[in-house]
Amino acid sequence: NVEPVLHIHPDAEILASAVARRLIARLALAQNQHGEASVVLTGGSLGINTLRAMATDASRTEVDWQRVDFWWGDERFVAKDSPDRNELQARQALLDSLDIDEDRVHAFGSTDDFGSPHEAAEAYAQELRRAAGRDADDGGDGLPLPRFDVLLLGVGPDGHIASLFPDMAGIRELDRAAIGVEDSPKPPPQRVSLTLPVINSAEEVWLVVAGEDKACATGLALAGANDVQVPAAGARGRQETLWLVDQAAAARLPDAL
Ligand code: 6PG
Repeated sequence: NVEPVLHIHPDAEILASAVARRLIARLALAQNQHGEASVVLTGGSLGINTLRAMATDASRTEVDWQRVDFWWGDERFVAKDSPDRNELQARQALLDSLDIDEDRVHAFGSTDDFGSPHEAAEAYAQELRRAAGRDADDGGDGLPLPRFDVLLLGVGPDGHIASLFPDMAGIRELDRAAIGVEDSPKPPPQRVSLTLPVINSAEEVWLVVAGEDKACATGLALAGANDVQVPAAGARGRQETLWLVDQAAAARLPDAL
């Protein structure tokens, strides 16, 4: 497993624009290398501010947005038009301003279409299998998965990533690609999430973290905490794991770093 690499930026705003530029460059590189690019998006204020920064970054024209697949790490299981939807927030922040191919926008299902988060999770797992068939790639863990060039993750103050929370069933799930959550400690309680093996199938995993309330979780994760207790500690890209953090989130790093 690749050791995490840490980049510290002065504050949350500078961090969001730095991640925006880095992501545009990484997607452009992926398209140069294999024609396509794919990204797994995250919600959270930093994730959405990063998308906002991409929408106005001059370098965005380096990417052919018609050839980008958009996936999500997790979603709130609410109505399709709820302002709580990560999908809606991402559309408003970035996707609506780009010329994208709607067939490549892979959003989780909502309460409009599914009776439970478990059904929405199973449908997302099928969508992943379908896309895997297209890419003829195998996730390596027996889960057929498409290629993800970059997977973005926010980190909660408790160390959660996507909707995988400390000490709950989701973080232990190794056999399914996506899970429904009924009792999230952070509202709304019903959610849908990718599982850790899917997250760790990405070529690059970028954890984007800002704020002093994340300093403890960041420090524990980088000190190599157990991933059931601190889910962020278990997130690893195949080729690269980047922690892109602001000064405040970097306040309690282990001495070894
Ligand atoms: C959620 C949030 C959450 C978020 C982290 C980091 O689903 O309730 O999206 O998981 O990603 O708490 O959020 P910030 O970027 O706002 O710090």
